[in-house]
Amino acid sequence: MGAPQYTEAEGNGKPFGHDSQWPSLRYNDIMNTHQRILVTGSAGRIGRAAVAELVARRHTVVGFDIRETPGIPADQSVVGTLTDLAALRRAATGVNAIIHLAATPDDAQFPRGTPPNDGDNFVAELVPNNIVGPYQVMEVARTLGIPRVILASTGQVIDGHLRDDNIPVTPQSPPRPRYLYACTKVFLEALGQVYSQQHGISVLAIRLGWCPRDAGQVAEIWGKELFQDVFLSPGDAGRFFAATVETPKLPPFAVLYATSCFTHKKRYDLSSSKELLGWEPKEKWPDGIA
Ligand SMILES: NC(=O)c1ccc[n+]([C@@H]2O[C@H](COP(=O)([O-])OP(=O)(O)OC[C@H]3O[C@@H](n4cnc5c(N)ncnc54)[C@H](O)[C@@H]3O)[C@@H](O)[C@H]2O)c1
Repeated sequence: MGAPQYTEAEGNGKPFGHDSQWPSLRYNDIMNTHQRILVTGSAGRIGRAAVAELVARRHTVVGFDIRETPGIPADQSVVGTLTDLAALRRAATGVNAIIHLAATPDDAQFPRGTPPNDGDNFVAELVPNNIVGPYQVMEVARTLGIPRVILASTGQVIDGHLRDDNIPVTPQSPPRPRYLYACTKVFLEALGQVYSQQHGISVLAIRLGWCPRDAGQVAEIWGKELFQDVFLSPGDAGRFFAATVETPKLPPFAVLYATSCFTHKKRYDLSSSKELLGWEPKEKWPDGIA
C-alpha cells in the first residue's frame, strides 16, 4: 500500500495538533523523480547512509558538514558550519528539501559527576549546534521558500517511557527527555512545528533509533535487549530518509519514529512511518554494523 495522499486541509496533526487557521500553503509536490536535496551532517554516521541511498536513487545531493562528505562530487560537498548563515544559504539555494542531521549527537557527560568532573557540553556544543543550528536551517528554508524539511530528533526524547516500559511509544507520547542533548531535540521538534504552522513549511521530526557510531557503541548494544530493539541499521536509515523526500504529499507537521525491526519487544510504534511514507524497516540488529 502506498502512502496516503494529503491535501492542504489535512495532516496527521500529531502530536501538536493542526492549526485550523492554516494559511494558504504551497504544499510540496515532491515526486519520486530526480530531486536536489541538501543533507546537513552528511559526513556523519547517518548522513553517509542517507547520502548513499539518495545517490543510488539518482538524486542530486548537496552535502553540508564541517568536513568533506564522501560519496558525492567535490563541488557538491560544502564544508561549513551551521552557524554560518551565508554558507548554509548558498548550499541550500535551489534544493527541493533539506534533511537536517548535523548536530552534536549526544551529551558529553551526564548526569554530572562530582567536581571537578561535573562539566557538560551544553553551552560549548549543544547550544550552537543543536539549538542555533536548527534555527538557522529553518530560517534558510523560510527565506528561500524550501517547502520540506526533515529534522533529526532522537528516541532519547521519550527515554523515560522506554525505561518505565511504557511501550510502545507513539508519535503522541509526550516528551520525557533523558539528559540535556534530548532537551535540545525537544526544542528542535517544537521549532519544526512552529515553522510549519507559521511559514507553511512541511516538517517531519524523526525520533531516530540507535545507529552506532563506533565499536564502543556496538558493544553497548550487544549488552542490552532494549538497545537491540531500538537499533537503526544504516540501510534502513538510508531508505527512510529517501522516502521522506520521495513521498509526494506530506502533512504540515508530523513526528515519526525510525528504527529497524525489533528483536525482543516492540518499543516504538512505526505505523505512522508506514502510513505517511510507505516505509517499513527491512533489517534488524546487528544487520549492517560492519
Ligand atoms: N546515530 C544515532 O544513533 C542517532 C540516534 C538518534 C538521533 N541521532 C541524530 O541524528 C543526527 C546524525 O547523527 P550521527 O549519528 O550521524 O552523528 P555523527 O556525529 O556521526 O554526524 C553528525 C555530523 O554533523 C556534523 N556537524 C556537527 N556539528 C556541525 C555544525 N555545527 N555544522 C556542520 N556540521 C556539523 C559532524 O561533523 C558530523 O559529520 C544527529 O542530529 C543526531 O542527533 C543519531
